[in-house]
Amino acid sequence: MEDNVKLGFATKAIHAGYSSKEHYGSLNPPIYQTSTFVFNNVEEGRARFAGEQEGYIYSRLGSPTVKLLEERIATLEGAEAGIAFGSGMGAVSAVVFGLLQSGDHIIGTDALYGGTYSFLELAKEKFNIDYTLIDMTNPDEIKKHVRPTTKMIYAETPVNPTMKLVDLEKIAAIAKEIGAVSVVDNTFMSPYLQRPLEYGIDIVLHSATKYIGGHGDVIAGLVVGSKENIATIRHTSLKSVGSVMAPFDAWLLLRGLKTLAVRLDRHTESAMKIAKYLEQHPKVEKVIYPGLESFPQYELAKRQMKAPGGLISFELKGGLQAGIDVLDHVQICQLAVSLGDVDTLIQHPVSMTHASIPREERLVMGITDGLVRLSVGLEDVDDLIADIDQAISYIKE
Ligand SMILES: Cc1ncc(COP(=O)(O)O)c(C=O)c1O
Repeated sequence: MEDNVKLGFATKAIHAGYSSKEHYGSLNPPIYQTSTFVFNNVEEGRARFAGEQEGYIYSRLGSPTVKLLEERIATLEGAEAGIAFGSGMGAVSAVVFGLLQSGDHIIGTDALYGGTYSFLELAKEKFNIDYTLIDMTNPDEIKKHVRPTTKMIYAETPVNPTMKLVDLEKIAAIAKEIGAVSVVDNTFMSPYLQRPLEYGIDIVLHSATKYIGGHGDVIAGLVVGSKENIATIRHTSLKSVGSVMAPFDAWLLLRGLKTLAVRLDRHTESAMKIAKYLEQHPKVEKVIYPGLESFPQYELAKRQMKAPGGLISFELKGGLQAGIDVLDHVQICQLAVSLGDVDTLIQHPVSMTHASIPREERLVMGITDGLVRLSVGLEDVDDLIADIDQAISYIKE
């Protein structure tokens, strides 16, 4: 396939960077399951170590199946380069450790994924990288928290799990103005629905465990950005910290990417129907879904997201106990953390993904005790609505 031709997203997600002609006609890429690579002679080994010759050395430093995935995600996000990790947290930590120094400061969105929050705590305690988390729905707030040491603006949009959005163009501009690197965790959207680099963001990362894998069978992380930033991350945090992606996992993700566009079209279509059903239900207090006109940042959602995606957060009347009553009675929806799978997953952030955040901080962020997060899967939407409906009937008055 000619990568320089202007092709559509789905075509690139299936073909970019791979030619079957170079692999005995194999329609799918081979899995190079090897730890090390053989040199033809000492000079070749020396030249590769010295960075004077292209080629593989050892799979922690790079391998062919993983490289194909790195190139494909870079193409889909519109980036110069990409890099793969053994988990989304491997990606988050590699970006922070790779691009920052001890003494630097990060400004991040509040209500981040709980694991990222715990990591920032660790980076602060052990490595003296400080952070301030703020509500970035008004990007001008960022300037109030800038310090001479602020070197990174870190955002999730939509933010997990409150679904608040951040204006990508504005935060990219502020980061440039203050000389900081802008980073967006694009896990909730995937490159099919949102491409932050097009708005001037420097680095995009993913928990590829979610929509990119799509089938709930792999833990993985991906990062894209400029050649320079990706090379820095590769030579520091990937090489020395070592959260490497296995070749088979790269192959699973390449397979997942092939259906990303159709999956997300269907996730979105079903989520829209479920959000509308929940919104009219008398036992539901509020529904937070960027596709609803009641969503406070509806216009921004339409501007920077191709579609509102498959995640809905909602609050039941009756708070915590009502949430527990519903979650304990779903039958088709699976009571599990994670998101972006073909299976519908439902979870309670306060007891699960966001339990590490102190209650007072959670409440300020909008993560209330009764908040429920639903990752709408690819089952028949009428079956999902019937399942949620029967579970809601268990709420005690
Ligand atoms: C938004 C977001 N970022 C990062 C992560 C971490 O990814 P992983 O679980 O693949 O390490 C998650 C996991 O749930 C997430 O939801």
